[in-house]
Amino acid sequence: MREIKRNVYYVGAIHWDRRLFDELIPLPDGTSYNAYLIKGSEKTALIDTVDPAMEDVLIKKLKDVKIDYIIANHAEQDHSGALPRMLEKYPDAMIVTNPKCKTILMDLLHIPDNKFIEVKDGETLSLGDKTLKFIYAPWVHWPETMFTYLREDRILFPCDFLGSHLATSDLFVTDESKVYEAAKRYYAEIMMPFRTTIRKNLEKIKDLEIDIIAPSHGPLYDNPEFILNAYRDWSSEKVKNEVVIPYISMHGSTKIMIDYFVDALIKRGITVKPFNLTETDIGELAMALVDTATVVVGTPTVLTGAHPNVVYAVYLLNALRPKVKFVSIIGSYGWGGKMVEQITEMLTNLKIEILDPVIVKGLPEREDFEALDRLADEIKEKHRGME
Ligand code: FEO
Repeated sequence: MREIKRNVYYVGAIHWDRRLFDELIPLPDGTSYNAYLIKGSEKTALIDTVDPAMEDVLIKKLKDVKIDYIIANHAEQDHSGALPRMLEKYPDAMIVTNPKCKTILMDLLHIPDNKFIEVKDGETLSLGDKTLKFIYAPWVHWPETMFTYLREDRILFPCDFLGSHLATSDLFVTDESKVYEAAKRYYAEIMMPFRTTIRKNLEKIKDLEIDIIAPSHGPLYDNPEFILNAYRDWSSEKVKNEVVIPYISMHGSTKIMIDYFVDALIKRGITVKPFNLTETDIGELAMALVDTATVVVGTPTVLTGAHPNVVYAVYLLNALRPKVKFVSIIGSYGWGGKMVEQITEMLTNLKIEILDPVIVKGLPEREDFEALDRLADEIKEKHRGME
């Protein structure tokens, strides 16, 4: 147990060598599942649990502490998965959560109805000399998510929200630039599709007096404005003078176009981030999508459509709903294909303008490079006034 404030303890588990989350998201820096113990003068509460793979760590840290309440801010199993074991060890403990989270926990973990205390938005729970306030914060990133606020110590426990996949022995943030990158990656992968609700939830907590933010992944923030400002920026409508280029080239024609186009954009003062999808960490690509004004997809033709790796990247682009404003497609084909239609039809979630694609038969020729220059000119014009 590590003390955060008097009678408030970190009891989570650090998963140093986990490298994949949800069998999808790369974890280059591992992660942690943060749980917290709050000992009031009358009652003791545990805030969230840990991933089932690490439940022994939590149980060992808690030793023989008597737990009255287990607060469930979120039903996803990396925080709730140890609940069944906790209820075995602490048969008198009650799970405190909102009705939506309760039903999901009952479905996912088969926890019986009589183990729950339901709380309303804004309701408080006294532990004696400490008071917990529950703040509904749906859709960051599931429908049942909520925050818990420890009033006397001015600590906000927002679960996934504001967190980072970062295994570190530091209890609090010490290296802000490192945590900024990890938190941005986390935001991009997990939170970005919910930008509108993120803004609402930031607004909802704006008047709370917060000394510490204690998320359920990564280090705690004793400078809350650091992460709140980052979230305000990422979830805003502001985009940067950047072009992200996810691409594949099979026989080199598309690569020649990409190389030429990257140089054309650089010459025009535009920041360019190309991602060769044969080796891209999708978390890096997701991070680049957070602020970019434009995405240009580069693809050869496979059968009648885009390369499958490009289709995967475009699927992610649509699913993650970044605030990108402009999209175009460049690429090459041998004898025909419908990759432009295929890609544009996949982007139904985005409010974008499609800029004229540059699709070439075989190797690009002089007029194709001129078309790439025109596309670069158009992007420069569209980006006018952006940082
Ligand atoms: Fe960290 Fe949505 O679970």
